[in-house]
Parts: sequence; structure tokens; C-alpha cells
Amino acid sequence: MLRSYIRGVGSYVPPRVVTNDELSRLMSTSDEWIRTRTGIVERRYADEGVLCSDLALEASQRALADAGLAPSDLDFILFATLSPDHHFPGTGCYLQAKMGTSSIGCLDVRNQCTGFLYALSAADAFIRAGVYENILVVGAEIHSSALDFTDRGRDVAVLFGDGAGAVVLSRYDGAHRGILHTELHADGRHARALCMDVWDISKKPYITRDLIDSPALWPRMDGKTVFKHAVTELIKLFQQTIARAQVRAEDIKYVIPHQANLRINQMVGEQLGLPHGKVLNNIQKYGNTTAASIPLLLDETYRAGLLEEGDLLMLLGFGSGFTWGSALLRW
Ligand code: ACO
Repeated sequence: MLRSYIRGVGSYVPPRVVTNDELSRLMSTSDEWIRTRTGIVERRYADEGVLCSDLALEASQRALADAGLAPSDLDFILFATLSPDHHFPGTGCYLQAKMGTSSIGCLDVRNQCTGFLYALSAADAFIRAGVYENILVVGAEIHSSALDFTDRGRDVAVLFGDGAGAVVLSRYDGAHRGILHTELHADGRHARALCMDVWDISKKPYITRDLIDSPALWPRMDGKTVFKHAVTELIKLFQQTIARAQVRAEDIKYVIPHQANLRINQMVGEQLGLPHGKVLNNIQKYGNTTAASIPLLLDETYRAGLLEEGDLLMLLGFGSGFTWGSALLRW
């Protein structure tokens, strides 16, 4: 049976640590408010001049080294981000040039917090169809340039951090390892619950001088709506994924969810009746890194020596769009 499996994984976060206390000097917030509402203790911010593709490059090189492959072994790049280097061309093209691969195809995926799972699922389909053998799947974000660090934007600004994660997905001609099942969903009726209006192509020109001083410059979020839908859909998705893949919840070693908010993941785990410790989190250290959060957590889990060949893992994500998705895999 032709399958895809994660042959290598890597991640990278910029060195600058930003604590809740540092943010509370910029706006009316507090360490206590941020910790109790979100679980976040600190996050990383990239320095001025660093691009999303730079973070992605570090993570990708680590994933390639882990896979024991060279850039020339790659057949394709899938790049998930909501903070691309520029509006166009796609950030995958910048990454490809920085890695020095040949003229392999690059596809950018714009599915926010579910972006990595959309990219992974597409890569899996390419491999199972026999089109490619080794695909680099990257999730990377630089949020720190696009946050409103005033009281107006504090609900969003405290949540997000910068980082990157990558996997090399490769062809596997066996039955013991690999991606068993993926699910992808979206409901565009909730697109306005979490969005950024800065680019409005209906306006002529699409960016005006007034826009610089308007809220449209920044991401905006209806936090309560996001919270409610995230919990409801992630629970349904978990149940649907195990039913369709014909596995039992107790067979899953770890759930590796998107890191939106610790309380969302705790509520999902509790309502599914999962034992403490099965749902992993690292939002405390990095905040919400959107498309990077799942490969970043996967890489940390792997490097901590917690994964053994054959372990059953569930990756789960929910985000702007709304979009949500899962991947069930045998490590
Ligand atoms: N610091 C201090 N006070 C704040 C902050 C802040 N950073 N942000 C908002 N507040 C204030 C609000 O203005 C409000 O004040 P008011 O009562 O005077 O009006 C008060 O705190 C409570 O605000 P709520 O929005 O009711 O707070 P809530 O308990 O809902 O928590 C939060 C807000 C954390 C955003 C929550 O709604 C949430 O977790 N939503 C999920 C959103 C999420 O996780 N998004 C991540 C990105 S999307 C994704 O990745 C899936």
C-alpha cells in the first residue's frame, strides 16, 4: 500500500523572548489576565528585517537534516502562512531560492491556523497518487509586525508569536507507518469573526493613506465566537476522524493540537474524556504561532524523546475562515 510518512521534522523560533510583563508596559493588560485567559507566559518575536521565509529556512534545514536528505532530494514545497514575506510572489518561492533547490514546484497555502494541516493533507494526496516522493511541508509566521500594541488591539496582540515548523513527507511502501486519514473543513460564513482587512481589492486604490490610522490595518477577532466554534468543531472532528479511520480514542498516544489557547485545548480534552497528558501543549512558551504551531509542537515532542515508531498521533487544528482539520498518523 502506498502511503506518506513523516521522514524528518524541524522547527525554529527567533531568539527574542517577549514576556507578558513586557506587553503590559505597552498596553493595559497583565501577566495574570493573559495566563488565566490563554495559558501564554511568553512568546518569541523576530527582529526587524527578518522574513517569514528566513524562519522557514531554519526549520526546513533542520527537517531535511533529520530526514537525512538534501534540498536536491525534494520534489515539491507546500508553504502555509498568513504572514507571507510579500503579497506576491508566494513565500514558497522565496524559500525555494534560499534553500538552493532546483526548479521544483512551490505552492502557498492560505488557511491560517489550519494551514499546516491543509498543506500536509495535499502533500499526502500527491504522494499517494504517485506524483512526488519527497515533499517539504512548512508552516511559518511572523505575527509581531502586524499586531496593534495599543488597548484597541490588546485582545489579539497578546495571543500571537513568531515561529516556524517543517516536515519532510516521503513515500512509504508499507502498512506500519504513515498518514492514515486526513479531514479538512471550512465554513466561510464566519470569515469575519477573525480577519485582517488591510488588503481590500474593492477599493481603488486598494490601500489609502487613511487606512494607516484605521483599525483595518490590524487583525480583528470576535474571541467568544472563535472560542465556541473551536471547541465544538474540534470535538466533532476528533470523533469523526477516529470513526472514519476505525481506531479507538485509547489507541491514540498523543493529540497534537493547534495552539490557539490553552483553555480551548483543555476543554476539548475534558469533553472528550481524554486522560490528562494526552493532549499536548506548548503555547505557554510560544503563544499562538498559527500555521507553525502544529509542526513546532510535533518537533518538540519528538526531540523530547516522547515518540516511538508506530505511535498513533492525532493532529488537530481550527482557525480563521473558519477552517478546521485533522490528520491521524502512525509515527
Ligand atoms: N488584557 C486585559 N484585558 C483584556 C485584554 C487583554 N489582553 N483583551 C481583552 N480584555 C478585556 C476586554 O476588553 C473585556 O473588558 P470589558 O469587560 O471591560 O469589556 C474583558 O477583558 C473580557 O474580555 P472578553 O473578550 O470577554 O474575554 P474572554 O474571557 O472572552 O477572553 C479571549 C478573551 C482570550 C480572546 C477569548 O475570547 C478566547 O480565548 N477566544 C478564542 C480566541 C483565540 O484563541 N484566538 C486565537 C486565534 S484563532 C485560532 O488560532 C483558532
